[in-house]
Amino acid sequence: MISRSDSPFLKEIIHELDTKIIGRNIYHFDIIDSTNLYAKKLVKKGVDEGVVIVADVQTSGRGRKNRIWSSPKGGLWFSIILFPNISPNQGMLITMACSVAIVQGIKEITGITAEIKWPNDLLIGGKKVCGILTELDAEFDRIKYLVVGIGINVNNPLNEKLKKKATSLIKEAGKKISRAKLLRAYLIRIDDYYNKLLLGDYRFIRNSWLSYSNIIGKRVQVRDDKKVLTGKVTDVDNSGRLILETENTKIRIVSGDLKYL
Ligand code: BTN
Repeated sequence: MISRSDSPFLKEIIHELDTKIIGRNIYHFDIIDSTNLYAKKLVKKGVDEGVVIVADVQTSGRGRKNRIWSSPKGGLWFSIILFPNISPNQGMLITMACSVAIVQGIKEITGITAEIKWPNDLLIGGKKVCGILTELDAEFDRIKYLVVGIGINVNNPLNEKLKKKATSLIKEAGKKISRAKLLRAYLIRIDDYYNKLLLGDYRFIRNSWLSYSNIIGKRVQVRDDKKVLTGKVTDVDNSGRLILETENTKIRIVSGDLKYL
């Protein structure tokens, strides 16, 4: 296992870590612009599948729709590089698997049960604790690479604006949480789920995701760049698309901002 720095943080994560693909190689930075940006640079240079890039601070962290992602010291900001042999429209399954692995990792380390909000936010008590940004490059029927970027508010402070809609694990648990233990717990799970996914076990991922999302039957509003849709969620398909029953029809939605009504 190679690492960019030999930090105690990293040592705690990799100690007897026997994952098959994910985290065999981890880069740890004190400070970086964005772990997703760095991951994409590594892909261009040529890199093994499963490399993880983790940073204590990001100066240019980004969320979905290019929104600024506040990434001060104390949080867990990391990305994983994958080359899955699946079609582009199945890419969402990997993000779903990541959500499940984080919920379970948080449960193991803090005892707290987070909830998944479609497409891939994790909430505690209705407030966001984790966001996932999956970026991929694909040909018509083949994913060339996929970078999953994950941001978890662990021990970091939240600015005044964020406090209204976001929370952190330290706040919810009432004590400091080990970022190394959390990342390690996550890597063990996501490696298992990723291997299952490569074997074609999509149902397992979808069913676990559904069990933490509580979304079926809920009335919601989904906003994308062009329109706002309102309806009842009847299902989430094997590709992670939301199936929404509106007044006149059923629609499959790939992504958007969801609000519970
Ligand atoms: C979102 O909810 O909009 C997704 C947030 C993703 C943030 C993570 S932090 C690590 C990685 N690097 C980034 O710049 N973004 C992701």
